[in-house]
Amino acid sequence: GLTAAAGLARRPSFTGAELRSAVPLPPAFRVPLPLPAVLAPVSTSGEADRYEITQREASVEILPGVRTALWTYNGTFPGPTIESRRGRPVTVTHRNELPVPTVVHLHGGRTPAESDGYPTDLVLPASRPDAGSPTGHHTPAGHGMGAGHGMRDPRAVVTRLTRDYTFPLDQRPTLLWYHDHRMDFTAPAIWRGLAGLQIVRDDAEDALGLPAGERELPLMIADRAFAADGGLDYPALDPTLRDRPGVREPYLAGVLGDVILVNGAPWPVHEVDAARYRLRILNASNARHYELEAVGDDGRRLDLVQIGADQGLLAAPVTHRFLPMAPAERFDVIIDFADVPVGGRVTVVNRLGSGRARDVMAFRVVRRAADDSRIPRVLSSDLPDWRRSDAVRVRDLSFRAGRMHGGRGWLIGGLPFDPARSDVVTRLGDVEVWRLVADVHHPVHLHLVGFRVLSRGGRPPLPHDAGLKDTVSLRPGESVEIITRFDGHRGRYLFHCHNAEHEDMGMMANLEII
Ligand code: C2O
Ligand code: CU
Repeated sequence: GLTAAAGLARRPSFTGAELRSAVPLPPAFRVPLPLPAVLAPVSTSGEADRYEITQREASVEILPGVRTALWTYNGTFPGPTIESRRGRPVTVTHRNELPVPTVVHLHGGRTPAESDGYPTDLVLPASRPDAGSPTGHHTPAGHGMGAGHGMRDPRAVVTRLTRDYTFPLDQRPTLLWYHDHRMDFTAPAIWRGLAGLQIVRDDAEDALGLPAGERELPLMIADRAFAADGGLDYPALDPTLRDRPGVREPYLAGVLGDVILVNGAPWPVHEVDAARYRLRILNASNARHYELEAVGDDGRRLDLVQIGADQGLLAAPVTHRFLPMAPAERFDVIIDFADVPVGGRVTVVNRLGSGRARDVMAFRVVRRAADDSRIPRVLSSDLPDWRRSDAVRVRDLSFRAGRMHGGRGWLIGGLPFDPARSDVVTRLGDVEVWRLVADVHHPVHLHLVGFRVLSRGGRPPLPHDAGLKDTVSLRPGESVEIITRFDGHRGRYLFHCHNAEHEDMGMMANLEII
């Protein structure tokens, strides 16, 4: 609460300072790694597989012996995983039993605009439909800082009590995630638990012989901090903080917690065979960056062989010693435990973290086992290969701090988000190059399309920029060029910083495809 936040204001850092938990924390590598339950469809007949998700409050044991009040999809954190096939549409009916309006966005989905979860396209609380002010200060989550801006046209707000989101999933197979996206309130909603995974597969990927079944693990990494009552700590949840000088700063930079959760468990451990595993890693943290490395008992680093990026398989594997991961990025990675002795441990650490936040999770090798998996030298041959000369225009977009509604905020091209303004208008099918430049770290995410990184800081992209991306990490002062084709659907989409606090504090813009 107060002490943490006030203390934090004096030691600013590029992504904010870390909240300290006020409850005893468990030792690392004791809690078993949970795997989120796969959601069963309510029907699979007809045009689409149908699912139902209820958004509700739940009390969940995250730290051993401590109950934590969360906002959840179906009562768990992470929410249930949706397993789908390429080109087989999925309809998810979301019912909102939370005390606040919500919005669902499938991150990385090639989704028609009406199901993409525009930030004012609300699902109202079923129990309290009158609580429907889209940016209301009266909601428990309200941090009341970015709130209320831009809502000049109330007709722009669409509301309902339940909502069917339909996803065609006509896209490259990959790991997607769904999360809240309400205007001004996305960061506290995700922090409180509104995030889950969706995996898209196809026959071509299944035929590659990659590690599968129990040797394929989704890993959703997210940091949190816990208050004395066991609930999640979040600076803006304390209304007394609002008017105190200095409190705005840590919030503005982005909120970090001192507990690293993987699939909702603190510093978990997972028992593995001495074999190859496919790790499908998502950085679902609001603001924390990672540089992950896998270290054996002897201090040796294991190779992390990247096979896929945000938007699916690479053309060929890329071997990393460490993996930089900005918020919302996904890395599909093979790790081989064959050389680890039985009984040995491999810890995944974040080189950027300090103290307890340096540890992420561990694997314990418990048996020798046969391994018929493989890592093909050619993984995919359908990666778009847009050339600079294909581009019909080049746009310059800056991501910087600036003045907003009488205070500080985060701006794109000098402006804070306004749902009533058109920022980028492009034609369906156009190829564009975007030159992005940042003041501090900003992970920039485009809805609807995947893109390639063309250059970074005037040089060729880095190894972790490979493949088709939907989120790219901008580093301080660096300019990054991306190229994409705006195809698939027309309509109003978004691009924004995926530091969730930056996003709530203005760093989002409209992308209209006409
Ligand atoms: Cu992961 Cu616009 O969102
Ligand atoms: Cu940012």
